[in-house]
Amino acid sequence: MALSLIISNIKKSYKDKKVLDGCSFSFEQSGVYVLMGPNGSGKSTLLRICALLESPDDGEIIYYEDGKVVENNLNLRRRITLLLPNIGIFNTTVFKNVAYGLKIRGMNKGEIKERVEKALDFVGLLHKKKQNALSLSSGEAKRMGIARAIVLEPEFLFLDEPTASVDQENTEIIENIITQLKQRLNSIIIMATHDYQSAKRTGDILLFLEKGKLTRTSVCSESPFQLLQGML
Ligand SMILES: Nc1ncnc2c1ncn2[C@@H]1O[C@H](COP(=O)(O)OP(=O)(O)O)[C@@H](O)[C@H]1O
Ligand SMILES: [Mg+2]
Repeated sequence: MALSLIISNIKKSYKDKKVLDGCSFSFEQSGVYVLMGPNGSGKSTLLRICALLESPDDGEIIYYEDGKVVENNLNLRRRITLLLPNIGIFNTTVFKNVAYGLKIRGMNKGEIKERVEKALDFVGLLHKKKQNALSLSSGEAKRMGIARAIVLEPEFLFLDEPTASVDQENTEIIENIITQLKQRLNSIIIMATHDYQSAKRTGDILLFLEKGKLTRTSVCSESPFQLLQGML
């Protein structure tokens, strides 16, 4: 059975600023969930909390499998990956950058090679595996970040603004990668973006975060303006 996540009544404030004010949702079916909302609405905060990297002030984050609660330990956290908007790049080859997460998990060399090459091929960077990662363009660096995340074969993949500050060509490539990923990984992908068009192209389920509240919305509106109006 697949891993699922239920969050309930998540609240989070920083100093006196209330960022999340009772967010609840069930992530149970595989697919791409897109989390939209204006800058500063708390998208990154919610992703960090769902990815178990930060604790909420109140509320529950519960991962389930076979109808049972999965204990929050290293084993669970290894089934979850969060890709940050600005990935740290190590001053070494693209291959070694992608291999890092597998190496620290103690995987053998042969398996690492096979998985890294598959992930690089998937994001269209196999031909650059020997290149120093610092010399990649920003779009390529984003794609390398995706390779570094998917090589771990996470069951929950959180992507924080994967197409922010990326040119049109790389945006299309990244959106295609995300669309193909959901078939390949058969997992749950939760992606934050403030780009409504991108959300509409890639998302199966659209979520909107504003004023600390999370709402499910529909893809039928033609513009973000209509979408927002529909929610007022
Ligand atoms: N670690 C932190 N310390 C203090 N304030 C924070 C912290 N993380 C986020 N915030 C604040 O919380 C609000 C939501 O931020 P964020 O989750 O990054 O929004 P988004 O990703 O939607 O742009 C912002 O006002 C931000 O400044
Ligand atoms: Mg953010």
